[in-house]
Amino acid sequence: MGQQPAVPAAARAAAEAACGSPVELTEITDRRGSAVWKATGPSGRAAAIKVGYGDGLPVTAREGEVLRLLGRPDLLGAGTAAEASWIVTRWLDGPSTYKLFAPYRGGEDGQEQALTAAVGLCRAVADLHAAGWMHSDLQPAHALHTPAGVQLIDLAWAWRPGFEPTDAFGGGIVHLLAPELAASINVGITPVTPSPAADVYALAGSLWTCVTGRWPLDYQAAGIDRHQLSPAQLRARIANRAAPLSPARPWPELQKPLLDVLLAPRDNRPTAPELGDLIASL
Ligand SMILES: Nc1ncnc2c1ncn2[C@@H]1O[C@H](COP(=O)(O)OP(=O)(O)OP(=O)(O)O)[C@@H](O)[C@H]1O
Ligand SMILES: [Mg+2]
Repeated sequence: MGQQPAVPAAARAAAEAACGSPVELTEITDRRGSAVWKATGPSGRAAAIKVGYGDGLPVTAREGEVLRLLGRPDLLGAGTAAEASWIVTRWLDGPSTYKLFAPYRGGEDGQEQALTAAVGLCRAVADLHAAGWMHSDLQPAHALHTPAGVQLIDLAWAWRPGFEPTDAFGGGIVHLLAPELAASINVGITPVTPSPAADVYALAGSLWTCVTGRWPLDYQAAGIDRHQLSPAQLRARIANRAAPLSPARPWPELQKPLLDVLLAPRDNRPTAPELGDLIASL
């Protein structure tokens, strides 16, 4: 995977065009071949710089292409330098869905805030689907709730017909992988192309995780030590629904529609707007 590279000069220049010069960089994350910095400058505005390197280089390059095809107004620039690809976007000021559930998980009176966040996430996914796109890697931290609306991030594997994921795509985070997708990956169907229904599975699984603080599947109950299994072996267990859902039910009213999604076969899942409406009616 190679050493994390310096921020490419062109990426810094794109951030400085938006934030003023010089920008100050604060590292946010760095794993699996991509790193994110927050850039702040004298203008008071901030930007996110994402750099893909090693195996992550083509992945971040693809994400830049997705943002361009989506016409995302927060895209400030993207490119590929010698050893790294990069994207500069406006800094999205707002907490993730997972964070908005934190007061609820902490036992405080956070249900209203959590429900608003859940509906906002469903509607953001619904809008993406309405535009003909799938996210393919929905996670509790992959939506930021800003004053201007909910923005989906980490769109490296988003796709629409005609712009399929590459063979490097492994189905998104395994804990939120729809069983039918796990099965198709294991039989070697490529490119792996998640459906809106698989996105809805990951959406419901993300919200379940926001509620309980744990991934939805109880591997331990099924005697599965996921650290002892290869990704293909774990996917086989997921494809066969070998692991039950975790027994934690701190919020049964919200977990019921999520549970229905997580247990339903692909064709019986609600759509993202339907799930949003179900949650909004609670
Ligand atoms: N435009 C942005 N505005 C604000 N924060 C951002 C922005 N882009 C990324 N981040 C922050 O950086 C984190 C990592 O971004 P992202 O998920 O795109 O990268 P990643 O390398 O795929 O990370 P991970 O492996 O954690 O999924 C996000 O969870 C978020 O906290
Ligand atoms: Mg991410």
